[in-house]
Amino acid sequence: MSHLRCDQTEAWAALRGHFEAHGRAFDLREAFARDAGRTAALSFDAPEVFADLSKNRIDTATLKFLLDLARECDLEARRDAMLSGEPINLTEGRAVLHTALRAPRGKGLFSDEVHGVLDAMLAYAERVRDTAASGIRHVVNIGIGGSDLGPQMVVPALDAYGHRELTLHFVSNVDGHDLTRVLRRLDPADTLFIVASKTFTTQETMANAQAARNWFVANGGADVSRHFVATTTNVEAAAQFGIDTTFGFWDWVGGRYSLWSAIGLPIAIAIGADSFRAFLAGAHAMDRHFASVPLERNLPMMLGLLDVWYRNFHGFTSRTVAPYHQGLARLPAYLQQLEMESNGKGVDMAGSALPFATSPVVWGEPGTNGQHAYFQMLHQGTDVIPVEFIAVKTPAHTLADQHAKLLANCLAQSQALMIGKTSAEALAESAPTASPRIDANTLAAHRSFPGNRPSTTLVLDALTPRSLGALIALYEHRVFVSGALWGINSFDQWGVELGKALASQLLPRLASGDTAGLDGSTASLLARLRQ
Ligand code: F6P
Repeated sequence: MSHLRCDQTEAWAALRGHFEAHGRAFDLREAFARDAGRTAALSFDAPEVFADLSKNRIDTATLKFLLDLARECDLEARRDAMLSGEPINLTEGRAVLHTALRAPRGKGLFSDEVHGVLDAMLAYAERVRDTAASGIRHVVNIGIGGSDLGPQMVVPALDAYGHRELTLHFVSNVDGHDLTRVLRRLDPADTLFIVASKTFTTQETMANAQAARNWFVANGGADVSRHFVATTTNVEAAAQFGIDTTFGFWDWVGGRYSLWSAIGLPIAIAIGADSFRAFLAGAHAMDRHFASVPLERNLPMMLGLLDVWYRNFHGFTSRTVAPYHQGLARLPAYLQQLEMESNGKGVDMAGSALPFATSPVVWGEPGTNGQHAYFQMLHQGTDVIPVEFIAVKTPAHTLADQHAKLLANCLAQSQALMIGKTSAEALAESAPTASPRIDANTLAAHRSFPGNRPSTTLVLDALTPRSLGALIALYEHRVFVSGALWGINSFDQWGVELGKALASQLLPRLASGDTAGLDGSTASLLARLRQ
């Protein structure tokens, strides 16, 4: 079935007109003053996640135009095509079925295969967690990209649920400092290595796995097959490496969508089988919401539409994520791969160059740390950068004073971004730390804030396996929505290939010093690095 690309629709032209008439000059403060029902109209409830979109530069009229766009682009049919296993990853001829990994037994596609591996993996995880019997105290996940970022984000996020006698380590970088830093602290006798790679060919992972095995043997490790397991679609290659415990998955699971599969083994070891099942159930609840709730109350749909509004009409080039929960420190890095590897594309499905912008830059740090680093720019810089705040109502600790301060800061930042401060207000304030020699009007210009800076606030009642599963699925579907509207393939990643191929060509040149045929810059840098 062929669908219209966003810019080929009547709704796109209508949105352009709406933007020129009302969007460009939209003022959040005026919008709140005008409409007492604004917060209610722009708040959304999805499983485990509440979303306040009211501090965004939209109103119900904007939403109507965006919903027209969604309908004209057949967004629901595209969603259904993904969920029913059509090969929507056209360039690789694959289905996109990470949702099948979290469907209850008997309910999703490939259920027997999925639950067969899941049961085996969770039983294995429980055996490792029985530390008295397994003798394991350290688990090292060796993987990169989608074989690293998900588990590396989730394990600390769910630390409250984590096994107290097991330490999880993550090694991803081919930079030997990464592996060395971890191995220095370990003893082969109580260490389990997970070699995580969908393809089992990734240069970084293979080099690190080989080095880990050499270290294991050199330090008296016995029984490689008991201390190394693999999570991969390439079971044969894992066997050739000498690993006989392998948990498989399938080509219809994209790397950046794979933490629900065997790639989630470190998560299962950390939090246990019951919590891992709750994690899957949370994601499944969000899948049901995405699949069945009407467009106008469907949170992933709304967020994806908002992303298009900001990227293609307001021209915002980035979005920052500010989780006010230290456990979510790695969420921005995880979202970078999810969104930028999925939607960082320049051609549509037919290979035609796109005449509009696609993925924004996604970045961020946990609050409140970011406030003391780059929030200055968010408040007073020349770029408008929408912020996504994530607040968690109930913490997993008992430090009530800290938590109240954390939440107050989260609310204060979105409020400050929106209301700003006029120079008249700044002039009326005292500024005890300002230089006594500066003119009052000049100082007021420095101390004023433009305001009208947009933000979204997502609220979780608590950070649990279930709510985190729902939150991640929300992001996955939101990325699908903007990608589908843009008419791109969100499920391939050809853009990573060229660098990989050139690195393979440069590797022998680093050894030989041969710079023949290289551009001047690369030749000179290569020579300098060899000196
Ligand atoms: O280089 C990008 C990429 O292919 C990602 O898409 C993937 O998550 C990562 O490399 C790791 O791949 P693998 O799991 O096959 O080692």
